[in-house]
Amino acid sequence: MPLFFSGAFFMKKEIKVAYEEFAGIDELAATEKYLCLEAVKALGNSHSPYSKFRVGVAMRLKSGKIIYGSNQENVAYPSGLCAERVALFHWGANHPDDTIVSMAITAHTDEFELLHPTAPCGSCLQVIAEYEKNQDSPIDIILYCQKGPIWKTTGVHNFLPFLFFEDRLK
Ligand code: THU
Repeated sequence: MPLFFSGAFFMKKEIKVAYEEFAGIDELAATEKYLCLEAVKALGNSHSPYSKFRVGVAMRLKSGKIIYGSNQENVAYPSGLCAERVALFHWGANHPDDTIVSMAITAHTDEFELLHPTAPCGSCLQVIAEYEKNQDSPIDIILYCQKGPIWKTTGVHNFLPFLFFEDRLK
């Protein structure tokens, strides 16, 4: 709708994002439930002595293979890496021709209760965006909260509608 304000016309635009909410893991399709439980297993290899916040990721590839990531912290704090990018870079280094179909993300800490889903940080979203674009198919992203709602989206644009991309930088 065109608007007039302070002597200038401008268009107000809106972007909608879509996600599904599930009350619990039993509401998910069997393959998605399995992937969430594999993400819980990945928490076991989290190296997070500084934040005490564990994040686990399981990614299903088109071949059926599942690969894992967990956050890896370091005493030089910025040297650590989020669980999502650990999984994604492992994929890029080892399975780049096997399309990523879905990823489940979960978190756990003994410090407080996690009652809502843990979403990937902006840097991880940007990395998901790059690989989604390269493989030309969206990734199902399932945020598995073990004590609250589960959220599922298809495609990283639902998290990051204005992601950075510039084809001519290739
Ligand atoms: N973390 C992740 O692994 N993924 C995210 O998307 C957000 C944060 C990690 C980084 C750090 O080890 C800990 O969680 C606390 O920020």
